[in-house]
Amino acid sequence: MLPTVSLAGRTAIITGGARGIGGTIARHFAECGANVFVTDILTAEGEALCLEIGNAAAFLRQDVRSEEDWDAAFAACAETFGTPDILVNNAGIEVTSFIAHADVEDLRRLFDVNVIGTAIGVKKAFAVMGKAAGGKGGAVLNLSSMSALIASPGFGPYGATKSAVERLTKVAAVEAGALETGLRINCLYPGIIATDMQQKLQDDLIAMGVFPDAQAVGEFVLSKTPLRRLGSPEDVAKAAAYLCSDYADFITGVGLPVDGGMALG
Ligand SMILES: NC(=O)c1ccc[n+]([C@@H]2O[C@H](COP(=O)([O-])OP(=O)(O)OC[C@H]3O[C@@H](n4cnc5c(N)ncnc54)[C@H](O)[C@@H]3O)[C@@H](O)[C@H]2O)c1
Repeated sequence: MLPTVSLAGRTAIITGGARGIGGTIARHFAECGANVFVTDILTAEGEALCLEIGNAAAFLRQDVRSEEDWDAAFAACAETFGTPDILVNNAGIEVTSFIAHADVEDLRRLFDVNVIGTAIGVKKAFAVMGKAAGGKGGAVLNLSSMSALIASPGFGPYGATKSAVERLTKVAAVEAGALETGLRINCLYPGIIATDMQQKLQDDLIAMGVFPDAQAVGEFVLSKTPLRRLGSPEDVAKAAAYLCSDYADFITGVGLPVDGGMALG
């Protein structure tokens, strides 16, 4: 993938960065010149990725649900590379379920990781990266989802968490200005992106009877996507690099779909 923008001299914390979209963002940001501080609950995968990236990468186990883990992550990043100027709130989980069948524990888990995990990250970014707090300002990027934009069967609980991430992003962008943080806060709405999460989602939709088989899922997605191809983690990483770079330095509070146009309907 071509490094389309420069992130030279930047340090980025990327949560859930051991694999999937987060892992690809970590690789791409490093290609763009950034130091990447990767965190995840998957230690072996995270360490292997950082070894592959080299000196510009470091890993720490972090559960985004824990405020103590967030403090430890910001402190370890500052010690390793300096105070971060980019935070990518990427860690997330997905549970596919009809609302009528939703398991209450699944609902709590979804909100705990996707919403509370992201909210703590934004709170810590204000406290550590904000200029008023002695930080450098910079960019926060949250991973929302196309499921915050369209109403698809099976995506009620997950989509509700991603709508919350979108709302958090926009309000945080306004508050970041009021508090003179120098932070830009944006989000992405990825469409169907080929990762472990997407594979599970597809299997769930077939098990729930929404689609008969994988071929039907693929055909449906392509027919609904104006750009007529499936999305890749690289597509998301390029958009992430742009929004976290100086090319986007007058852009805050936006959500950018990375879905080949699928959410247009
Ligand atoms: N793949 C898609 O189609 C798609 C579409 C829209 C949005 N997204 C969002 O993009 C992000 C990345 O998704 P992905 O497809 O790469 O999924 P993935 O499951 O491959 O990766 C998610 C990562 O988050 C980590 N994680 C989960 N719970 C965590 C926790 N409590 N603390 C720290 N890390 C935790 C996982 O270990 C994993 O490495 C998620 O927020 C997801 O909701 C994905």
